[in-house]
Amino acid sequence: MEFNYPEGATPLDPDEIEGLIPTHITRRDELDRWEQENINEALAWIEERRPKDILNERFMKQLHKRMFSNVWKWAGTFRKSDKNIGVSWYKIPIELKLLCVDTEYWIEHQAFSEVEMAARFHHRLVSIHLFPNGNGRHARLMADILMQYILNQPLLTWGKANLIKSGDDRKKYIEALKSADNGEYELLLQFVNS
Ligand SMILES: Nc1ncnc2c1ncn2[C@@H]1O[C@H](COP(=O)(O)OP(=O)(O)O)[C@@H](O)[C@H]1O
Ligand SMILES: [Mg+2]
Repeated sequence: MEFNYPEGATPLDPDEIEGLIPTHITRRDELDRWEQENINEALAWIEERRPKDILNERFMKQLHKRMFSNVWKWAGTFRKSDKNIGVSWYKIPIELKLLCVDTEYWIEHQAFSEVEMAARFHHRLVSIHLFPNGNGRHARLMADILMQYILNQPLLTWGKANLIKSGDDRKKYIEALKSADNGEYELLLQFVNS
């Protein structure tokens, strides 16, 4: 099986590809479709549940599992190898804990606007890179959940774009993340709210 990856995607290790549950999948677009159907189930689960207790490892793993458990055996489990993006795999739990504590502090002290809190939270989360795959989609959904159920704000619009496929919108999104890597949040703030 050969998958071609869009820019800024995390390639999977062979042992991670072995965790593919629908074994008939051979093409990237089939995989995208299976994943999207699984994600739709997760979205329904969230709407019904209206989660409040989200800034913790348990919820974030549970969400990833809800999004990808029909497709990947390792859904909901942290990665156990290093990737081109992300902290060393063994630092994931502590980095995530720090992010959760920081985010709670921002909220309590209204350190930034709601949009900026969500954008910063999204960028930090995807930079830790919790899972072998699905980090972008998971971290965008986490930012949406933060906006909707914790900050009681309208959803982010993410450039009104399909960010899974390669293209100008995805390029813009990845450029905004790279600029946030350097501590510059302006592009990302514009993007998530455009
Ligand atoms: N330079 C970067 N800094 C921070 N995050 C990045 C960077 N480049 C890419 N990303 C994030 O990593 C994601 C790709 O990781 P991946 O696990 O493949 O997620 P998904 O499968 O949902 O696309 C991108 O969608 C983006 O959110
Ligand atoms: Mg991916």
